[in-house]
Amino acid sequence: MEIYIKKNYEEMSRKAAEIVAEEMRKRKNHFVLGLATGSTPIGLYKELIRMHQEEGLDFSRVITFNLDEYCGLSPDHEQSYHYFMFENFFKHINIDKKNIHIPDGMARDLDAHCREYEKMIADNRGIDLQVLGIGGDGHIAFNEPGSSLSSRTRVKTLTQQTVEDNSRFFKTIEEVPKYAITMGIGTIMEAKICLLLVNGDKKAEVFAKAVEGPMTTEVTASMLQTHPRTIAVVDEEAAAKLKRKDYYKHVEKMAGLLKKRVNEKGKNG
Ligand code: PGA
Repeated sequence: MEIYIKKNYEEMSRKAAEIVAEEMRKRKNHFVLGLATGSTPIGLYKELIRMHQEEGLDFSRVITFNLDEYCGLSPDHEQSYHYFMFENFFKHINIDKKNIHIPDGMARDLDAHCREYEKMIADNRGIDLQVLGIGGDGHIAFNEPGSSLSSRTRVKTLTQQTVEDNSRFFKTIEEVPKYAITMGIGTIMEAKICLLLVNGDKKAEVFAKAVEGPMTTEVTASMLQTHPRTIAVVDEEAAAKLKRKDYYKHVEKMAGLLKKRVNEKGKNG
């Protein structure tokens, strides 16, 4: 896992946006971007919007797949992930609406819809880069503790902790949906790059478990340890409980020096 520890949320978001933009530019003709909701990626979306508006970053051919959606909320419900994505990202960039995919939490046959969602990802040749956050209980997407590490898109019952974590967005806890459609761990693991963002001291413990603890269904994010290319971009607060924090900083510095040396060598022939 590549780990970048940034000073604060703004720097974390900027670094993440640079990574996304670089991959987008590399794969101009076909880029499939996996997206996440929650508080964590809002800064990343803001920075990508700025890059679109000020630097012409082009989303016209980008295809997106969101990780998850609550069951029972219509797309125009203010707490639905459809609404979140349009408000915080899509309506500010030049994405083609037909390229946007978000699970339909109102589908009449949820299981059939989950199978169809998997097929749509496969038909688009898979996800190139998947943005991820981590939940307080170690989940990625809504893969709650105990989820199979090879699970696919399906309906999950949310844990009490997730319901409580998410109740800050609803008037009462009773209004928080109890089920969601979510990509599985197996689905996420097939993305070519996983980009995990974590910020704030509340996530420090669970992030350390995910990166340095045993691989376990108790912390489904720990499965990312086996992914061929996970990049974690985090702030200092979230990194506070890492045992090897100094080493990760050293690796970043050494990789930068190596890149500089290669560039100079290239220039001098
Ligand atoms: P948050 O949620 O970004 O709002 O903390 C992350 C998650 O639950 O995956």
